[in-house]
Order: sequence, then structure tokens, then C-alpha cells
Amino acid sequence: MKRWTTILREYRHHPNEFARELFAPLPSRYDFLSALLSLGQDRRWRSAMVNRVVGSRPSLILDVACGPCGVTRKLAKRTRAHVIGLDQSEEMLRQGRANVARVGMVDRISLVLGRGEQLPFADGTFDALTFTYLLRYVEDPAATLRELARVVKPGGVLASLEFAVPERPIWRIAWWFYTRAILPVAGYITGAKPWWDVGRFLGPSISRHYSTYSVPWTVEAWGRAGIDHVECRSMSLGGGLVMSGYRTG
Ligand SMILES: C[S@@+](CC[C@H](N)C(=O)[O-])C[C@H]1O[C@@H](n2cnc3c(N)ncnc32)[C@H](O)[C@@H]1O
Repeated sequence: MKRWTTILREYRHHPNEFARELFAPLPSRYDFLSALLSLGQDRRWRSAMVNRVVGSRPSLILDVACGPCGVTRKLAKRTRAHVIGLDQSEEMLRQGRANVARVGMVDRISLVLGRGEQLPFADGTFDALTFTYLLRYVEDPAATLRELARVVKPGGVLASLEFAVPERPIWRIAWWFYTRAILPVAGYITGAKPWWDVGRFLGPSISRHYSTYSVPWTVEAWGRAGIDHVECRSMSLGGGLVMSGYRTG
């Protein structure tokens, strides 16, 4: 078993490779366990993010870090758009493909292997773009935001979902206790070693991310990437953060 300090060092130095290894064993039970371990909140957060996109009546949407396609399927269901899901994990995409086929959406959704930092699409390709739990796994969040904005048409909408650290001290203490003490054990009981690793990693990675890239920093980075009218919605006492904005013309 890897030592905890080794795991955190790998995450700090090679977030891409680290994420690939972390997510490889998770796909088959991802949707079920992420809903369970987030106490049902993850579904609400995804819906709030998707709501930011549907009103713009997009024809072509890119969903980055699509995993097993929970958000991708929701986007296809709530719009008339063709949706492209992109993820760097082959295992996640395999599960995504099975999930898309199961709900009969193969003609509405295409899946592409790739990294959010280097998208295989021309400038201004998409009417809308979503990304979920991505920025903690990239080396340079500001550069990744520029790359995401690059492929969206002027006036197109971008929306994201991330975990966050509650601001109010009382909720922050409860969040800290849940992520450090309960999440790893609950992960182990429900999903064995791979979910113990995720449960143990999640809280410290969220704290570490926001100690370097605060929410105000992130809002500014969206602006510098060429996205305006940036809005943030803090959800579930501050444990989830939905952001959206429009690509400048
Ligand atoms: C927590 S999962 C979220 C999956 C999905 N969006 C959802 O909400 O169900 C995060 C996903 O990000 C992917 N990922 C991590 N770093 C990435 C990167 N740099 N580029 C593309 N995908 C990445 C992982 O493979 C994983 O599938």
C-alpha cells in the first residue's frame, strides 16, 4: 500500500497521471457511489450546472471530464444538441459508452479521448461547454481555462461544477470532519480500497486547491480567459460551487 505522503507528492507533481490512476478502477460504481458519498448533493449540483446551459438552446455542446457521462446524458436529455463528452480516462469512457447505449442516446452523444488542457478542436467550435471536477487535476488551471474558452463560439456559455470549502466556520468544521473522518471510511465500506483512496484524497485535495486558487482568483481567471458575466452559485452550505459565464466576442 502506498504511503499517504507518496500519494500527495504524486498528485502535486503529476496531477494528470495521478488522476488517470485514481479514476481507473472507479467507473462501474461511480454514479451510484458519488451520489451516495455526496449525500445526494452531487445530483442537485449537476442539475444546477446543466440549467445554466439549456436556456441558450445550443446545437453543439462539449462536456469536458465527462467520466461515465452523467452530465453528458443530462445535457442530451435537456437540450436538442449533439453532445461530445471528452475524458482522459479510457476506463471512464468505456463505462460512459455503455451508459449512453443503455439509455439509447448513441446518435446524440459522441465520446472522445483527450485532455482538457489540449482540446482536439478548432477555435469557436461549440455553442456551449461544461466541465466538472476538472481544475484540481491540471497543472495550470489558468491555461486550462484559456484552452476551454478557446473552443467556444463568441457569446457561447461555459458552466462548471467543483467541490468547494464552506466559508462559514461552523460548516467548514463539519465539512472538514466529514471529508477527513467519515468519507474515507464510508468509501471503504461501500467501494473497498479504490474508494478508500478517493475518500482519503478528496478533502485534502480540495483544501489544497483553494489555498492556492481561491474562488476570487478563479473568477478573475475566467475573466482573463475571455469569459465575462461570470456568476458563482455556492450550494449545499458551500460544499459545491457552480460557475458560469459567456465567451466574449
Ligand atoms: C470526478 S470525475 C467527474 C465525472 C463526471 N463529469 C461526473 O460528474 O459524473 C472527474 C473526471 O475528470 C477526468 N479528468 C481528470 N483530469 C482530466 C484532464 N486533464 N482532462 C480530461 N479529463 C480529466 C477523470 O478521468 C474523471 O473521469
